[in-house]
Amino acid sequence: GRVVVLVSGAGSNLAALLGAHQDPAYGARVVGVISDKPSAGGLEIARAAGVATAVVAPADFPDRESWDRAVAEAIAVFRPDLVVSAGFMRILGAATLDRFPDRVVNTHPALLPAFPGAHGVRDALAYGVRVTGCTLHVVDAGVDSGAIIAQQAVSVETGDDEETLHERIKVVERALLVEWVGRIAREGIRVEGRHVTIG
Ligand code: GRF
Repeated sequence: GRVVVLVSGAGSNLAALLGAHQDPAYGARVVGVISDKPSAGGLEIARAAGVATAVVAPADFPDRESWDRAVAEAIAVFRPDLVVSAGFMRILGAATLDRFPDRVVNTHPALLPAFPGAHGVRDALAYGVRVTGCTLHVVDAGVDSGAIIAQQAVSVETGDDEETLHERIKVVERALLVEWVGRIAREGIRVEGRHVTIG
């Protein structure tokens, strides 16, 4: 299946998907990478892998709705079967979600519904949890609130700071993303309320 990846940062999750898609049996192929930030490291990773990129920067649009419509258009160009938000730090609006219903997924570095939002790792550390983790979920109109596809626990170690904990989570997160994007691409995904069925 054709996959479009949305990035805002370093793109290590994208890099993991690009590694997996080398295998024709994986079933998913990253056909486009889109960022809200021209400087996103993920764009360089995509270009190095020969994958088409697009930048849709909010500063170039008068309001959120026109930006959201432009994001939906940029995604549609690639005719995706699945849209993966991996380190994309913007909220996707109705223009995108309605155009790709139940086909936009997001990876979050905490065990949702705990610690949603842009600082899930920092918030888990501050709360003092002993176990956190990562979540792959369907994107709905809320923030990190859509139906959950898969989760994996990660222990908080003594002396962890946001960076060391996030790095430990990212090791697990990349593996979870690669596994489930492949399964969704090969077997399909069905969402009924808060419950997801693969295959
Ligand atoms: C990931 O942990 C993602 O869950 C979070 O930010 C990180 C992005 O990492 N939103 P990368 O850009 O994929 O390296």
